[in-house]
Amino acid sequence: MDLIHGEGVSELFQVQCHLYKHIFSYIDSMSLKCAIQLGIPDTIHNHGQPITLQELVSKLNIHPKKTSCVHRLMRLLVHSGFFAKTIVHENQEKEKEEEAYTLTSSSRLILKDNVTSLSPFVLAMLDPTLVSPWQFLGDWFQGSELTPFEKAHGRGMWDYCNQNPEYNNIFNEGMASDSRLMNLVVKDYKPIFEGLGSLVDVGGGIGTVARIIFEAFPHMKCTVLDLPHVVANLPDSKNLKFVGGDMFQYIPPADAILLKIVDYQEDLNAHQ
Ligand SMILES: C[S@@+](CC[C@H](N)C(=O)[O-])C[C@H]1O[C@@H](n2cnc3c(N)ncnc32)[C@H](O)[C@@H]1O
Repeated sequence: MDLIHGEGVSELFQVQCHLYKHIFSYIDSMSLKCAIQLGIPDTIHNHGQPITLQELVSKLNIHPKKTSCVHRLMRLLVHSGFFAKTIVHENQEKEKEEEAYTLTSSSRLILKDNVTSLSPFVLAMLDPTLVSPWQFLGDWFQGSELTPFEKAHGRGMWDYCNQNPEYNNIFNEGMASDSRLMNLVVKDYKPIFEGLGSLVDVGGGIGTVARIIFEAFPHMKCTVLDLPHVVANLPDSKNLKFVGGDMFQYIPPADAILLKIVDYQEDLNAHQ
């Protein structure tokens, strides 16, 4: 679309806006990550009442010189729905009004101490390990033999996790936090599990979903199959057994197989 094809200037600026929104949309994700790293949701929560900008800066131990930058970060996060703004009065006489921040449902979901906190998932997904491969998506479509992840890191995702215990831990904890949300629904779907004596969670990570299932259905024997570096050192219990292995080689027998967020395509490619 251009002026030559009869588009008006105002449409062109709208399109420019659309384009810029997409160019800079990574700032939304990175600001969310930054808020979690700084502990902003927990700081607001622990404050117990709406928090002003000055109070926030002081509780976060950020240099006062950076107050205006915190303000800009908060403005963006309010715009994205992670925080809300309200008005508070500075003193009893209610002479001076000031803006203050509160949590929203979205920021409550990333409070660190919540059982259903998704902050480990945010940190795992927005880690440079998973963000940098996107730089190579175009190369891959244009014929690169290597997947974007391989191009960025010189090996596949699971090899990388095997060789980087730190990120392996971040990733597994991130997936576990996503899985903990299953706690809210598993009991409501009893018919799905009725009649099953055993279940194997293939690519089941550190066993979060399996644990939720056998706690809801104590007669169930659960097995978690995952790569050896994921399940190494995880203790078995009466209802839960960990098996280290490759799902393309062997899947322990059970009445049912569960697959949650397991990407066949990538692994099939790797095994062809
Ligand atoms: C995206 S994670 C999902 C984890 C878990 N199902 C969940 O939803 O939290 C994919 C899992 O598959 C495992 N995985 C990848 N390739 C595998 C293979 N060949 N055999 C067994 N597990 C594999 C990974 O180690 C990882 O834990």
